[in-house]
Amino acid sequence: MTTDTSVTPPHDAGTTGAAGRISLVGIGPGHTDHMTARARAAIAEADVVVGYVTYIKLVADLLEGKEVVRKGMTEELDRAVHALEAARAGKKVALISSGDAGVYGMAGPTYEVLFQAGWTPEDDVAVEIVPGASAINACAALVGAPLTHDFCSISLSDLLTPWPVIARRLDAAAAADFVVALYNPKSGRRTRQIVEAQRLFLRHRRADTPVAIVKSAYRRRQHIVHTTLDQMAEQEIGMLSTVLIGNSSTFLRVGLMVTPRGYANKYDVDQGFETREGEKAGRSLSSGLLGWIEGLRAEQAAGAGLAELASRHRLPADYIEQVLAAPDEHAPAEASTEETEA
Ligand SMILES: C[S@@+](CC[C@H](N)C(=O)[O-])C[C@H]1O[C@@H](n2cnc3c(N)ncnc32)[C@H](O)[C@@H]1O
Repeated sequence: MTTDTSVTPPHDAGTTGAAGRISLVGIGPGHTDHMTARARAAIAEADVVVGYVTYIKLVADLLEGKEVVRKGMTEELDRAVHALEAARAGKKVALISSGDAGVYGMAGPTYEVLFQAGWTPEDDVAVEIVPGASAINACAALVGAPLTHDFCSISLSDLLTPWPVIARRLDAAAAADFVVALYNPKSGRRTRQIVEAQRLFLRHRRADTPVAIVKSAYRRRQHIVHTTLDQMAEQEIGMLSTVLIGNSSTFLRVGLMVTPRGYANKYDVDQGFETREGEKAGRSLSSGLLGWIEGLRAEQAAGAGLAELASRHRLPADYIEQVLAAPDEHAPAEASTEETEA
């Protein structure tokens, strides 16, 4: 099913004339400088502010005259139920999360509670999600530019997710060469998960792969450690740390962790960024989709079978088969606008 809500988001607080409102506010990593203007305004407009005690402390200067509901870490559903009850009573509620409320935050549990209570976007209670800078963005900014190529995040918390699910995701992300941010890497009780993550990564990545461990980004006790994959698990890591593991191209220079964007595939960096032979600025690489298929056809014509092609290109044989069976496609001779690479 496809639903187009691009014109008027039905759940937007300003459009429904709803009595009460729940704003799921991402307050960013911790320092008020990194909180958005909308996050600040949503808290200022609220009658009730609900959140985990530590996050409530982070916005203490915005709370004067408000009803403040401090909840413990494991009381997420409770926070959502409380917010719904207050909003049903006509109050404006700011439900705050650190970072972004939609990233391992309150947005999901809140919608689950709302749906359970029969809420729909047409309900009198309006719901707004206020985006914030997640830990992955904050920590990356502090250590250099580790996310300039494909990345993903994996939480090592097995409080609600079985370990085999987490382990399979770690293994797949490591094999696929993603830069990976590990959220919830370790706590007082969960100490072995980071060791297992390291074990899985070392099956696919070099021991000297750069790793950055950022604790309390943009908070008072901010601490950054640059290390390598084989040393990762021995470092000081806690509940307020995010671990960034580089991909096979990530490097550390003058204390900065950088993942190349891929310019060296197209331009000769040592020759004044001249375009490499066979490549064109603003166009797909010669090994991009269409160029790759052309090469695949040539390999097949030279006698390579499906199994061999699958093993050479590290892709499923049935996918290779489908690509080769699809009609030939040619890139348009002139694109109307040049693509940019930044
Ligand atoms: C339950 S998740 C919440 C994530 C949050 N919603 C976000 O978008 O950043 C908690 C985890 O986020 C990471 N985290 C949150 N704030 C952080 C900070 N200021 N510095 C480093 N890591 C942080 C840590 O990995 C922590 O264990």
